Amino acid sequence: MTLHSDPSMQVHFDDVSLYGTPKEEPMPNIPIVSEKVSANFLKSQLQSWFQPTDNRLAMKLFGSRKALVKERIRQKTSGHWVIHPCSSFRFYWDLCMLLLLVANLIILPVAISFFNDDLSTRWIAFNCLSDTIFLIDIVVNFRTGIMQQDNAEQVILDPKLIAKHYLRTWFFLDLISSIPLDYIFLIFNQDFSDSFQILHAGRALRILRLAKLLSLVRLLRLSRLVRYVSQWEEVYFLNMASVFMRIFNLICMMLLIGHWSGCLQFLVPMLQGFPSNSWVSINELQESYWLEQYSWALFKAMSHMLCIGYGRFPPQSLTDMWLTMLSMISGATCYALFLGHATNLIQSLDSSRRQYREKVKQVEEYMAYRKLPRDMRQRITEYFEHRYQGKFFDEELILGELSEKLREDVINYNCRSLVASVPFFANADSNFVSDVVTKLKYEVFQPGDIIIKEGTIGTKMYFIQEGVVDIVMANGEVATSLSDGSYFGEICLLTNARRVASVRAETYCNLFSLSVDHFNCVLDQYPLMRKTMETVAAERLNKIGKNPNIMHQKDEQLSNPESNTITAVVNALAAEADDCKDDDMDLKENLLHGSESSIAEPVQTIREGLPRPRSGEFRALFEGNTP
Ligand code: CMP
Repeated sequence: MTLHSDPSMQVHFDDVSLYGTPKEEPMPNIPIVSEKVSANFLKSQLQSWFQPTDNRLAMKLFGSRKALVKERIRQKTSGHWVIHPCSSFRFYWDLCMLLLLVANLIILPVAISFFNDDLSTRWIAFNCLSDTIFLIDIVVNFRTGIMQQDNAEQVILDPKLIAKHYLRTWFFLDLISSIPLDYIFLIFNQDFSDSFQILHAGRALRILRLAKLLSLVRLLRLSRLVRYVSQWEEVYFLNMASVFMRIFNLICMMLLIGHWSGCLQFLVPMLQGFPSNSWVSINELQESYWLEQYSWALFKAMSHMLCIGYGRFPPQSLTDMWLTMLSMISGATCYALFLGHATNLIQSLDSSRRQYREKVKQVEEYMAYRKLPRDMRQRITEYFEHRYQGKFFDEELILGELSEKLREDVINYNCRSLVASVPFFANADSNFVSDVVTKLKYEVFQPGDIIIKEGTIGTKMYFIQEGVVDIVMANGEVATSLSDGSYFGEICLLTNARRVASVRAETYCNLFSLSVDHFNCVLDQYPLMRKTMETVAAERLNKIGKNPNIMHQKDEQLSNPESNTITAVVNALAAEADDCKDDDMDLKENLLHGSESSIAEPVQTIREGLPRPRSGEFRALFEGNTP
């Protein structure tokens, strides 16, 4: 860190903490410590005006206030009178320049085309003032730090580098568009007007017209407008609104080009002295009020640009024809750009739906290619409809791009209804719930799907978010049914044995699966939850007539609070079961199977819940509304 000889430029050790990070300073500006307070007051005010403030651009670049303070110190130590691109000065300067540019780009062509020989004082004053400001802008640009594309945080603050960069990029365009032509005309007018008026009136007029034509180079200021607008867009509209902003910009640009084209339609015949076959003469507008001339010129230009017609009359002269062609080309280009952007916007508005349609189309083609049977195709189509509900997201990819904390929060939020409906979770430690839900995988099964096959080795267990599954015994009898908020497939994971029963989806089932590795990993950390699960599993085994003792091989003495928790969970499951079993169970059994569950009766002690499904489909099924 180089220290400057001027005390006001020095970084004091008070500015930096013991750990080398700059101390947080009161916002918005750093008061520069100075001995000669009164003398340096203005200077320090100016300097702070040039320093980065905590505006949106600065926060985007530097991320935190601490980094911002560091940047201020860096600027202070660099010791030059350099304006930071994130400073308040630059912000307000850019804003003023933006307004002035828009005014210039609208007024200039009108003044040049419709007020040709009228060098009024007002016009000269306006031109002189704007030329001066644009020249000052060049100076300001020479002293404004440069944000690098590849290293946004490292703003170039060295005046030499800034000058080099500016000279290499926009300087010449800026200079040409800011040449103070009116100052030159003023001098020219004062010194030679008399002799020109008397001796060479015709030549003077031509020179004046040429000068007017030359002032068209001011329209190159458009490049500055584009630069400023894109810079602002990047900082302030870098989200969804940016697409709208782009379309808005494009419409503004189209209107501006239309305006320019209109002015050009009039300027050319005017410079030719309104030949009799020019559109102005045909329309008898030579002596009309400028607004009338402008309106007809704009109408003509717009008609070409939108490819609607030629205005009042088709072009008669060669010049008119060329002008018409020019505005047709510019109009068609703008139109094509507009269409492209609008299509882009419409597509980006509903990208998930578009992706879904693309996916379905691909699947349809695949099914045709593989010549799958009709009913299988039907099932695949239905699966897609149910699974994605018309929108396709690569959820894993989206969540993978989030921070760990955000990912966890999103998953917890997404699983909130599951957590609320599963008694096992509702009574569990919130850390346990969070650990489990972040490892769940969403799966959908269709009616009739065998989710678990008896006798196989299990690799995962399931939590039911929505739907009904039947526990089917080896002899084909349905032992019981489970619904929203229940879980199954845990016994095999707890005992390391084979599946004790088959599980079949009775309706569409939205399940969350937990793999055996994750299952063991989580339960190792929460042994109490393992105990709870084992207790429920023992009862389940008991119900289907299998030996429940396999669950308690490693049984240890439980402490009072632990056994209370287990009882709470088991009771919660029981309460849910009691709530639902009277109505839903009987109703479902009757409607779905038309008979009582065969072995459900003798084991009424089972403490398993069967909450009412939320799905409209299932309710409709209960009410007998399905086709
Ligand atoms: P698992 O043996 O892994 O696979 C079949 C599953 O069916 C089993 O785990 C239990 O989760 C579930 N299951 C077996 N019997 C019952 C029952 N009586 N009540 C509820 N669920 C059961």
